[in-house]
Amino acid sequence: MASKLMHAVQYDSYGGGASGLKHVEVPVPSPKTNEILLKVEAVSLNPIDWKIQKGVLRPFLPRKFPHIPGTDLAGEIVGVGAEVKNFKAGDKVITKLNHDYGGGLAEFAVASETLTVPRPTEVSAAEGSGLPVAGLTAHQALTETAGVKLDGSGLQKNILITAASGGVGQYAVQLAKLGNTHVTATCGARNIDFVKSLGADEVLDYKTPDGATLKSPSGKKYDAVIHCTSGIPWSTFEPNLTANGKVIDLTPGPSALITYALKKLTFSKKQLVPLLLTAKSENLDYLIKLVKDGRLKTHIDSKHPLSKAEDAWAKSIDGHATGKIIVEP
Ligand SMILES: NC(=O)c1ccc[n+]([C@@H]2O[C@H](COP(=O)([O-])OP(=O)(O)OC[C@H]3O[C@@H](n4cnc5c(N)ncnc54)[C@H](OP(=O)(O)O)[C@@H]3O)[C@@H](O)[C@H]2O)c1
Repeated sequence: MASKLMHAVQYDSYGGGASGLKHVEVPVPSPKTNEILLKVEAVSLNPIDWKIQKGVLRPFLPRKFPHIPGTDLAGEIVGVGAEVKNFKAGDKVITKLNHDYGGGLAEFAVASETLTVPRPTEVSAAEGSGLPVAGLTAHQALTETAGVKLDGSGLQKNILITAASGGVGQYAVQLAKLGNTHVTATCGARNIDFVKSLGADEVLDYKTPDGATLKSPSGKKYDAVIHCTSGIPWSTFEPNLTANGKVIDLTPGPSALITYALKKLTFSKKQLVPLLLTAKSENLDYLIKLVKDGRLKTHIDSKHPLSKAEDAWAKSIDGHATGKIIVEP
């Protein structure tokens, strides 16, 4: 297998956006002893993919050039390393690759066994590929940071979800509702019906003056904000929070980090919490089972063939996707 060539999409340097992507023929990778080799069925993009290309995590990521981006995959196993225990050729799986090395925008990819879970036949490859980064981030923010119990056994909380129409936001609204919360959500006018269909109790159009205040129409104060966009100052959140309210910021910029430090240093009850995803396979498995049972859906913004991966890339950079952007080899 190692000498066979495959189609892949890669970039050679920082910057360049969609036109920095190149279509190449490269050798099919070989799995190490604890890795599996996948025939890729679907890849979902996340903003971190193009942010790494932009150089946001320079000089740490990517580890080397050329870099094949893409980490969230559905695929069929076509080879396993000698120490792989739980999978065999022919299994359909969902996996999250490491951002250091990527490898997703290709016909074949190698993945570690640790962040790989089975994909039941009821979950399509595209739906499943949406889950790793976006679904796990929504899950972590709600369960670990906001303290929502997804079986609905906790006290009812009021949650605000910004950019509820995006990849993370769509999962956050649905999961929050499983957890018996009251959800206020923000999105653009064209997505209001969509976000209501996910289960949001009230929806604010972020482009209106009322929406920009983030005030709950029913007068609720928020126990937690799952903040999936950027550019909203602490002074806008602060009056809308309960006494112990938290803003869980997925994209903290310099001013958010200063607010985080200040709130900590002054023992403020209201806090800003920067979130960094720690992906766990048991949580991915949990999310896939919810999709299988029809309790969680992946809304797909658009599907693009690998031969047009640059269109998917440009769409993600544009920042106006409704749900997940999928590339299919
Ligand atoms: N910290 C972590 O570990 C982590 C993990 C995952 C994601 N993230 C970050 O979280 C952010 C969201 O990721 P994503 O995948 O959900 O992004 P995404 O899918 O690209 O989000 C696009 C959506 O955001 C909406 N939007 C943009 N600005 C908005 C605003 N001011 N108010 C309300 N909605 C707005 C857009 O609606 P319109 O088209 O109507 O504008 C669009 O539907 C990204 O910055 C990503 O890098 C961080």
